[in-house]
Formats: sequence, C-alpha cells, structure tokens
Amino acid sequence: MPPPAPRTQSAQSHVAAVAHKGAVASAYPLASKAGQEMFARGGNAFDAAVAVSAALAVVEPTSSGLGGGGFYLLHRESDGFETMLDAREKAPGAASRDMYLDKAGNPLPRASTDGPLAAGIPGEPAAFDYLARRFGKLPLRVSLAPAIRLAREGFPVYARLQNAIRYKREGLMHSPDAAKVFLTAGGEVPELGSLIKQPDLANTLEAMAEQGAKGFYGGRVAQDLVSYVRAGGGIWTLKDLASYQVIERQPLIGRYRGARIVSASPPSSGGVALLDALNILAGFDLKAVDSATRKHLVIEAMQRAYRDRAVYLGDPDFVKMPLARLVSKDYAAGQRSSIRPDKALPSDMLPGIETAPVGEDTTHFSVLDAEGNRVAGTISVNLFFGTGDMATRTGVLLNNTMDDFSVKPGTPNAFGLVGNAENAIAANKRPLSSMTPSFIETPKGLMIIGSPGGSYIISMVILGTLDYLDGMDAADIVKDPRYHHQYLPDVVEYEKGALADTEISRLEAMGHKLEQGNRLWGNMEVITWDFASGAVAAASDPRGEGEGLVY
Ligand code: DON
Repeated sequence: MPPPAPRTQSAQSHVAAVAHKGAVASAYPLASKAGQEMFARGGNAFDAAVAVSAALAVVEPTSSGLGGGGFYLLHRESDGFETMLDAREKAPGAASRDMYLDKAGNPLPRASTDGPLAAGIPGEPAAFDYLARRFGKLPLRVSLAPAIRLAREGFPVYARLQNAIRYKREGLMHSPDAAKVFLTAGGEVPELGSLIKQPDLANTLEAMAEQGAKGFYGGRVAQDLVSYVRAGGGIWTLKDLASYQVIERQPLIGRYRGARIVSASPPSSGGVALLDALNILAGFDLKAVDSATRKHLVIEAMQRAYRDRAVYLGDPDFVKMPLARLVSKDYAAGQRSSIRPDKALPSDMLPGIETAPVGEDTTHFSVLDAEGNRVAGTISVNLFFGTGDMATRTGVLLNNTMDDFSVKPGTPNAFGLVGNAENAIAANKRPLSSMTPSFIETPKGLMIIGSPGGSYIISMVILGTLDYLDGMDAADIVKDPRYHHQYLPDVVEYEKGALADTEISRLEAMGHKLEQGNRLWGNMEVITWDFASGAVAAASDPRGEGEGLVY
C-alpha cells in the first residue's frame, strides 16, 4: 500500500484579488494545445497535466512516454495542498545489484542502456490514472482524447524529432514496430513534414481511456509488453506490472531570499541538491560581488550539492538518508566555510567518490489554471527513445532508466554521474533521478519551472531560480545561457555566451577547469504569475521547439 497522502500547506492562497489566466508551457506546441483543450472543456491543471503528458508521449517520443516515468509536483489552490506524485520507473522484481556486471565484477558495456534488460517498470500510465481520479475533473476518456487523436491521425515530423531519429536510427531498426513507426519503408529517416501515425499506441491509450491503469498494467497490453521484454532478454513479469503503484511523497520545501522553494524529493535528487545549493548561496551577498565571483560561488555551491547527491541519495523506501541535515542551514554553513572567494576547490578535496557527460532526452511541462492549481511535471524514458525498442502491438517504447542506478559504486552512468551503494540496484527499487520540477514562490509572485537535461537539470533549475529572484521574466529565464558543475568530472561546462571573456580568465585564475560545451542544453518550460497585476507568462526554451500558451 502506498503511504497516506502527506499534507503540506502552501504559505498562502492567492486566488483573491486578481483574476488570472491558465497557462501551459511544454516542449511541443501540439502538447501545449492539448492542455488548452482541457481548460476549454472545463478541466483543471491536473486534467491538463494528463492531456499534455499523453500528447507528449505521442508527439515527443524521444523524451517521454507510456513506457517511462517521472515526477509530478502538484499544488491545489483551494486548500493549499501540495504533493509529489512519484511515478518513477521501478526495478523489476527479478533485478539484482550486479545484474549489469560481468563475472569479474566489471560493468558490461551498454547493458544498462541497450535492449529490454535496461528497462524499468513504467510509471507514467499509473500517474495518468492517479491524477484523473484524485485531482482532475475530467475522465481519462476526455483527457486522453487529444493524444489518441494525434496517435491515430498522425502529426508532422519536425526538425528536432528528425535529428533524434537520425541519431537513433540503428537502434530503431532493431525493433520492427519502432522502425515501422519512425522510419520509412526503406528504413530511412522520414522527411520533414511527413506524418507519423501510431495506431498501436492509439489503441493502448484507448484501453486506458476505457479501463484506467488496468488498460496498461493488465490484460492484453501487459501480456504483449512482458512477452516482448522477455523475448529480448529482459526480466519483466505480469506481477511487476500489476503491482506498480504511484507513491505520493511530501515535496521538499525550503526558503531562499524570502522565496518558498517547493521541489522534488527522493527518489529524485533534484530538490535536495537545489536546496543544498541555495542554502550555501544564502550566506553570500551575490549582488555585492562582481560577476566572475558570483559565478564562482554558484559553481562552488553546485559542486558541493552534486557531491552530496552522489554520496547520500537513493530511493527513500530502501535507504536511510540524512535529508534533514542535507537541507539544513547549519549544514550549508559548514559547506560554505570551505568556499574561498578567490579559489576553486578541487573535487577530490571533498570527501566522496571517484569519472563525460551527455544530455540526451526527457521532457518538462508547466501548467497553471485559472483557479491557481499548478503542476510541474518532468517525465522521461531516459535517453533518446529509451532503448529504442517498441513492444509489439503496443506502440510503447521501452525506457532505459535502469541506467540511472549506480551499476557499480563509483562507475559513471550515461550522464557521467556517480553514485554510492544508496543508489545500487535492488528488486522493486526506484533509481535516483535528477529531475527537478519546482515551484518558486515569493510574496509577489510564483514561478513553475523544470527542464530535461540529465545531470544538467539541477544546475539549470538553480540558475533559473536565481534569475527569477533577480527579477528576470519568463522569456529571458528560459533563454539565459547556462553553466554547470556536477562534482565529478571536476570541470565547469558552459554554453556559448554563458561566460564573458573576462569571467573566463578570472575563473581560470581561481583554478576552475572550463569547457565550452558544443551543444545546447535543456529545454526549460517556465510559467510565471505576478500576484499584484495578475499577469501570467508562459515561456518555452528557444533551444527547443516548444510553446508557452496563456489564455
Ligand atoms: O531521471 C533522470 O535524472 C534522467 N533519467 C533524466 C534523463 C534526461 O533528462 C535526459 N535529458 N536530456
């Protein structure tokens, strides 16, 4: 049984004075429109969250889907109730600590990323059912309708999807159903604008519209999923699927510069690392220092927060974690005392762990309705198209989220992240995540924020939070160039334009190793609401092709 729903009251209710509008920001316009359609049909933010997630499963299959999972941070305005739906994938019941190691104890190359053995038991379909039943106003038949339509009638190939198909073509070719959907009859990358139709996925969604979670976790769909996975060397059972449950968890809540920060709790590391970094920064007057020093301090805070992630965090149902300590002001004061204003601390001077990061895929959306209900949802299949396997007759792509476990303590995963025994594999355990759906609330306004980007997600949300509290608007927040330090490797990565030449030389003189990344990171989706004016803005990251809609 999942634990009873935790009750967390938001600081204040804002409905009162100013009537405001609903908004959706997501990584693809057709998904944002699916959310808008729910508002038009009398639905609330939670119905819109189902419609947006389901539409993303169809039109952004690189990033999330029914075969994946994620975290939904919810705020209900009528009573201030806040909760996090943990719809993270779980390890199959037959999973074990060393399942991706050879006899000598070394990681088997790509074992945790390629093929059905890399797939965890999906959580996203259970979240649709849970959201609709506990929080929504509309039945799944209505909230899944836009996704079913898009799957059946098709949607046009866009540039980012075409690039992802090109990148993953080999993998998709291994799976006949995936090849049929995403490649041409000759096995080529489809042309821009050609229609992608997914009739099997439409049928799976329809089974959910009729039967709720059972339409996915039971019956014909479950049987097809398990047969495909097992034929490909995986270990799923019907019982694994039938026993999957969404777990409601209390979000992590903290304060920074007068703002109330509400974020994802374990098994995501996002909120812990966000609060850890902000608590460290709270002891500095970032406005009083020059820009190079400010960036140095932010980098040092990121490094220490990511180190704590690696050392301490895992699934709270399996490991004991010093969470209260990690997010306490006293702990932050200790961390801060090791930061010098003019010198980088090498990561190997921090007690910890022994590691080339890549950002692949995942997606985030933000929703606010006219009552003030809100959702920050970050959902994923882990890497582009997950494993690239589409289970026969289901239209469902398998995730490779098992790679988010620490396959072997200290061995980096696809994002270069390391972990300890806390994040070792165990039956039914949920792997540690970096997904950081968050609400940042001040007496004057609110921001709903999140992004994909693997290990970069946390630093993006840290920078977005600092930007918002500095008064930046939604469009500028999603655009702002980013920099990142994840403890190991001991390097500051930055996007073009994130560091001025003078800042680069100052940071190098302090001992930072700097590397300009050659790709764009993240796909941030932000909604802001100004309480006094009632102004609502929704912005989608210009690095992607998403859309923010306000109405
Ligand atoms: O949960 C996690 O941290 C990863 N599975 C997220 C993957 C991701 O963001 C890939 N995105 N670009």
